[in-house]
Amino acid sequence: MAIDARGRWLTLADEALRSGAFVRLSLAAPGSGEPDLRRVRLRPVTLQSGLLTQWVWEFATRDVTKNLNLEETLIRLRDLVGTSFRTAHLVTTGQTAELDLRHKPKLKVSAVSTPPADGAHDRGKTRIVDQYRPWLHSLGVTTTDGRVCRGMEPKFRQIHRFVELLEPLVEAAGIVGSSPASDGSDALHLVDMGCGKGYLTFAAHEHLRTTTGRPVRTLGVEARAELVAATNGIAVASGCTGLEFVAGAIAGTPIPRTDILVALHACDTATDDALAVGIAAGASLLVVAPCCHREIRPQLVAPPVLAETLRQGIFRERHAEFVTDALRAALLETAGYETRVFEFISPEHTAKNLMIAAVKRAHSDRDKCLQRVRELARFYGIRRQQLAHRLEISLEEPDIT
Ligand SMILES: C[S@@+](CC[C@H](N)C(=O)[O-])C[C@H]1O[C@@H](n2cnc3c(N)ncnc32)[C@H](O)[C@@H]1O
Repeated sequence: MAIDARGRWLTLADEALRSGAFVRLSLAAPGSGEPDLRRVRLRPVTLQSGLLTQWVWEFATRDVTKNLNLEETLIRLRDLVGTSFRTAHLVTTGQTAELDLRHKPKLKVSAVSTPPADGAHDRGKTRIVDQYRPWLHSLGVTTTDGRVCRGMEPKFRQIHRFVELLEPLVEAAGIVGSSPASDGSDALHLVDMGCGKGYLTFAAHEHLRTTTGRPVRTLGVEARAELVAATNGIAVASGCTGLEFVAGAIAGTPIPRTDILVALHACDTATDDALAVGIAAGASLLVVAPCCHREIRPQLVAPPVLAETLRQGIFRERHAEFVTDALRAALLETAGYETRVFEFISPEHTAKNLMIAAVKRAHSDRDKCLQRVRELARFYGIRRQQLAHRLEISLEEPDIT
């Protein structure tokens, strides 16, 4: 009898998974071998590699997530149902099947109509960020079943957009498929300066790990110790190996040799400190989204033709932002990088939407770049800028008399 009920349930699961009618299933009532294990939940998920089944193993204090293909899923179900788990609940678009092997084996099949699962009906769509990742849930972005929490849609879009734009930059920097690091390891090193709650750190770490095929070592640097404790806890609980957060100041935290350095919305000159640290660490790719441009504004001397216009506070503020970021881009060119400045996300989501990406290049005309930096600084009367200061670049023309 036990074989009949179990065998019939497995057949229904097999048919649902193969036909696309599968919505979700759960295995519960675990045996005594794993005291911390509560249950396992499965649902379809569409990733770059195609349609897979996501397995979420729920333990007392953490979730472990794994995506398996169809054949692996069927094999695992055969192994687990009736041995490791004594109940199994299958939901398809047309029926539910509840298997209970705790006492006398029972199978209850009911005709119930359920909408297709989110992950199943958009097979053609590529999702760069897997919404079912446990860290996204722990950071409060998604629910346990992979839906974006109400109010967190802009944050999810920002995470998604960041990963989307990181991909071509990593490629342009020649990081994918590049030769092993000078320390002999194959690991790719990423540093996120002023990482805050770590949304973008987790996303970048995971994305690089899955797309480059190399081990990734990521360091998040953040001034607020309580955020660091929280993000380290989430990294461990979510099984994000190679991801670590440290408490410290951007300017004063030692970092290892680095391939990629990002600093998103670090305040005022912290962006310059991060860029200087990344350049010193030999980063092939620097990505910053500046914010709070306070350093340049009081120094700004309006060129005569702009003087009247820049009496308007808002124009003056925007102009200071422009001059700051234009100087940063030119200084990065002077330091041997090719820079790109673009919009990170639509201004409807946040005003802090400018991004500067710098890719290290083999050759650069330093003198020409330096001249451009100095002309720009002179035009606006700028005498001090933090990145120039950190790079020991004088903004003044050398005295040739
Ligand atoms: C606006 S949040 C951005 C967080 C994250 N990078 C993002 O974009 O989601 C800026 C973070 O940078 C941190 N921060 C600012 N200046 C810093 C500094 N000099 N050293 C370390 N952390 C800093 C702040 O504590 C804050 O958590």
